[in-house]
Amino acid sequence: MSAGATFARPDRDLPDEDWRAGGFGLYLHWPFCQSKCPYCDFNSHVSAQIDQNRWRDAYLAEIRRAGAETQGRILSTVFFGGGTPSLMDPDLVSAIIETIRATWPMSNDPEISLEANPGSVEAGRFRAFRQAGINRVSMGVQALNDTDLRQLGRIHSVAEARAAFDIARACFDRVSFDLIYARQNQTLDAWRAELTEALSMAIDHLSLYQLTV
Ligand SMILES: C[S@@+](CC[C@H](N)C(=O)[O-])C[C@H]1O[C@@H](n2cnc3c(N)ncnc32)[C@H](O)[C@@H]1O
Ligand code: SF4
Repeated sequence: MSAGATFARPDRDLPDEDWRAGGFGLYLHWPFCQSKCPYCDFNSHVSAQIDQNRWRDAYLAEIRRAGAETQGRILSTVFFGGGTPSLMDPDLVSAIIETIRATWPMSNDPEISLEANPGSVEAGRFRAFRQAGINRVSMGVQALNDTDLRQLGRIHSVAEARAAFDIARACFDRVSFDLIYARQNQTLDAWRAELTEALSMAIDHLSLYQLTV
């Protein structure tokens, strides 16, 4: 070894490809909802007809394209976001996860999440999502009082959100839910009480979003 190597510039000694050895996450977007909430500016649309076969072809082609560019990288998380991915056909979710598994090596305990609207939850579908490989659900509960849910233009009540949450808990070990704060006329005390109630629902994760108009 030459002396020059011993005194190499520090940046040359850095294993600059190391970040590639860490796991990475994959996000898939399903841009459809049953109804459009007036506050939401996500890429989400209501459509009378959705050809899920065409979407399957498009997702699989895109996964293969991305896979060819990232060969050998280890995948640790997959997130089906939306829109409302709980409206996806479970067979479509299954085909996507199968292709993902055939494309990248996965970490030992990959987290594969799907976002759900409590208004589109049904036990049979959730079981089918679990069979497809989903192991975590994130639900858009938004508020724990009916007046605010109505004002937000949501399609579900608190009772329906709680029932959907129970179904999710029965099907998945990992369930998270979203709440929106800084709602119209919401007081600090009301928000504190709502958070206490949310924490009592034995959740493993909670996402809190400040209402952005
Ligand atoms: C794609 S949505 C989640 C799943 C599903 N679409 C639903 O609404 O039940 C992601 C989350 O973003 C939050 N969100 C959407 N629009 C927002 C806004 N304008 N301000 C704050 N949070 C918002 C909501 O909490 C929502 O659950
Ligand atoms: S259901 Fe979710 S993604 Fe769809 S419009 Fe409402 S907040 Fe947006």
